[in-house]
Amino acid sequence: MHAESAVNSGRTARAVAVSVTVMASLGLIAGGVTWAVLSRLSPPELRPLDWWEHCVLYQIHVRSYKDSDGDGIGDLNGVAMRLDHLKDAGVKAVWLSPIFSSPQVDFGYDISDYLEIHYEYGTMADFDRLVAKAHSMGIKILLDFVPNHSSSEHQYFKDSVKRVGEYADYYVWADGFPDPSNASNRLPPSNWESLFGGSMWEWNNVRKQFYLHQFTTGQPEFNLRNPVVVKKLEGIMKFWLDQGVDGFRLDALPHLVEAPPDATGRYPDNPEVPVKAFTHFQTGTTMQLYTKDRIETYPVLYEWRDFLDQYNEEHGGDTRIFLSEGYANISMTMLYYGTESGRRGAHVPFNFDFITMITNTSAARDFAYVIDHWLTYMPFGMTANWVFGNHDNNRMASRFRDTMVDGLLALDMMLPGVAITYQGEEIGMRDGYVSWEDTVDVLACNRGTPDTYLEFSRDPPRTPFHWDDSPNAGFSSAPKTWLPVGLDYRELNLAKQKRDPISHFKVYQKLTTLRNEKTLSHGRLEVGGLSLNTLYLVRHLRGHDTLVLLFNVGKAPDTVRLERLPYLALPATVYTSSTHSMRREGYRIYSQELTLADGEMLVLRGPPVTCY
Ligand code: NOJ
Ligand code: MG
Repeated sequence: MHAESAVNSGRTARAVAVSVTVMASLGLIAGGVTWAVLSRLSPPELRPLDWWEHCVLYQIHVRSYKDSDGDGIGDLNGVAMRLDHLKDAGVKAVWLSPIFSSPQVDFGYDISDYLEIHYEYGTMADFDRLVAKAHSMGIKILLDFVPNHSSSEHQYFKDSVKRVGEYADYYVWADGFPDPSNASNRLPPSNWESLFGGSMWEWNNVRKQFYLHQFTTGQPEFNLRNPVVVKKLEGIMKFWLDQGVDGFRLDALPHLVEAPPDATGRYPDNPEVPVKAFTHFQTGTTMQLYTKDRIETYPVLYEWRDFLDQYNEEHGGDTRIFLSEGYANISMTMLYYGTESGRRGAHVPFNFDFITMITNTSAARDFAYVIDHWLTYMPFGMTANWVFGNHDNNRMASRFRDTMVDGLLALDMMLPGVAITYQGEEIGMRDGYVSWEDTVDVLACNRGTPDTYLEFSRDPPRTPFHWDDSPNAGFSSAPKTWLPVGLDYRELNLAKQKRDPISHFKVYQKLTTLRNEKTLSHGRLEVGGLSLNTLYLVRHLRGHDTLVLLFNVGKAPDTVRLERLPYLALPATVYTSSTHSMRREGYRIYSQELTLADGEMLVLRGPPVTCY
């Protein structure tokens, strides 16, 4: 190459390099400025949510919701009559406690025909009308499905007893062992104790074998190691999906599969413990090592989920979903969502932590811890949910305090994911009083005595809904209702709360309305204690108002300082507050120091966060 042209080309290269650098730097600066401006001005693009991912899900205990025909028992037409209440409350989906034919030993959790409506609740035509009406109002209907056991009155069981064809292996049967002290007696194959009292094994004199029942003797356990049974139950779900239901709440999943027997037919004994207790892990003096939370349970659920996904794919329309019920430790609970390797389980595995881990003496940090606990363990991409009560546990207002009701409702509604309400929570209903004579819950009857039954009874949270102050709280025109109506219904009922300018129901409505804001459906969450007793929860999303919950979970007034609250600029405005709060809607908070009454909650609205 010529010397001069070499010099020239060197210069050219330098000039190109310099201009590229300048342009790149300018580009970076311009990009940075644009980013800074955009981050302040434009809200982020938000992922559209499927209908269930941020819904308010309401549990209807059909027997106690509304009696339409005056027999003292709630029914499907009663539910249909009162769908307007759900609409009014801002509820998007309901799950109905079991409605299938049943001897009602365990109030419908003992199903004698999965394809029929229980006669006290109505007919298939009533059901069709209910689903159609609910759908026309934009409300989804999910059914309670019990795959762990049927009723001993089910034809499957009757055929199993007689060893008819494939039904012979539908349930868990075992020979047991000779009784050395009584030649005509057989001993059960293990020491397993039923959750509802007595041995888990019941002798059947026709088949001359024991059958397994984790709950009452009227609820024989399906043999879910038998793939034919798994498929059969799937077929039942398909039947109801074809009727238009939007999904299922799957009952008692941790009990689906038990440990298998050894070659001699002996089942492993559950470990004995010295102190008698009834918890979700211990029954009397045994730990449920071999009868609960078995790893073999999960593939059964995943298989049903594959079926549901396929159904969704084939039929289109709105997604049908699974809710799953199981009281288990966090790892075993999270497996109900699915596996890290991509198997899917329930869309909504019930989160019972506010029932099992929090009490009316918990401090603010206990609440924060329990919230973080779930969110930390939840697999990536899944949706959280929060349960504060159901038909198996004392009501929220009774477990905590009346003054805490609004704060608990606000927590439910402001946390990310699905907010779950048990019927009556929206008006702060308390447990009803049910005397021993009026007690019908099999668990209380089996385990309790006239002195102890209330420790076990699930009747108090199941007493009828308080519609108004007319006889039987407007629930029924019958002289006697299936469970007595709560004694406090004249002061505490929906009609009154709709009339009163300030009521739990009005707070509930404000909260379900607030859920339409993107800050709650998509925003980030910060939670912690501002003091021993004052809990804070901050939801924030760029470009959208910041929403803050302050909740004094203690029994005394509490003074806190707000500068410790992340992302809240003062003045802030009260969006809604506890019924007993002096700070009403629209009240402005200017001062950093704030004293909250016992149980008081405030929902504050602040400006959007502009920078992080
Ligand atoms: C859980 C249900 O919620 C409860 O009411 C029932 O007794 C058991 N599962 C057994 O089905
Ligand atoms: Mg089972």
